[in-house]
Amino acid sequence: MKTLAQIGKKYPTSKNKTGFIPIYEHFLDSLREKEINILEIGVDQGDSLRLWRDYFSKAKICGIDIVKKDFSINNVEILCGDQSDYNFLSEIVKKYGKFDIIIDDGSHVSKHIISSFHYLFDYLNENGLYIIEDLQTSYIPRFGGSRLNLNKKKTSMNFIKTLSDSINYEHNDKPFFKKSIYDGKIKSVHFYQNISIIEKGESIKYFYGENQKIKFSNKIKKLLSLFF
Ligand SMILES: C[S@@+](CC[C@H](N)C(=O)[O-])C[C@H]1O[C@@H](n2cnc3c(N)ncnc32)[C@H](O)[C@@H]1O
Repeated sequence: MKTLAQIGKKYPTSKNKTGFIPIYEHFLDSLREKEINILEIGVDQGDSLRLWRDYFSKAKICGIDIVKKDFSINNVEILCGDQSDYNFLSEIVKKYGKFDIIIDDGSHVSKHIISSFHYLFDYLNENGLYIIEDLQTSYIPRFGGSRLNLNKKKTSMNFIKTLSDSINYEHNDKPFFKKSIYDGKIKSVHFYQNISIIEKGESIKYFYGENQKIKFSNKIKKLLSLFF
């Protein structure tokens, strides 16, 4: 069986040049033979879709792009639409239900990345992977990023960084703390250069033991300790 790197040589997807192939292989290898659904935002010439088609034996694969494509790929559906158009995305999820892998290699505009994530995360299966490419655009103003202010709100990088706080939300001691929408739903967040892999699921409770929640009484104690 060929590796993703070997298959990648057949197709000139930018995933070869960016060095993402070994990262993808690391995360996707265990899913190769599974009956999974894959969505990729950003089709371009279709090379990454061809790569996925050769790599995954039983996956249903859908690619979307804002530009209509005049080619087809056997056993892959290519749909035309905008990644930030919720009506368009709703048609896709109506058809596919949930996905196991979602890859955002679309506009790379922070606003679009964040809005697609907000919509599609509900349609990612438990333990599913949400992968966002080309995060260097987070430092480029025309993509909604900033070179000068690394804390600029609403860049894709800063959005993903907040997801890592959701992994640890049970340790947030802020009085009257309210859960954010992603608290308890992010198992892990991985950063490599220009790419992030977000794994959906309950976080693994290393510190307090598997699945053990911090007791309510501890929270009260912590709250009182602020006053006494
Ligand atoms: C980097 S290319 C995709 C490359 C492809 N995934 C690969 O690895 O071979 C980005 C694609 O995203 C598409 N795109 C740009 N803005 C988009 C949007 N708002 N919604 C969907 N697709 C978009 C572009 O037309 C372009 O084809």
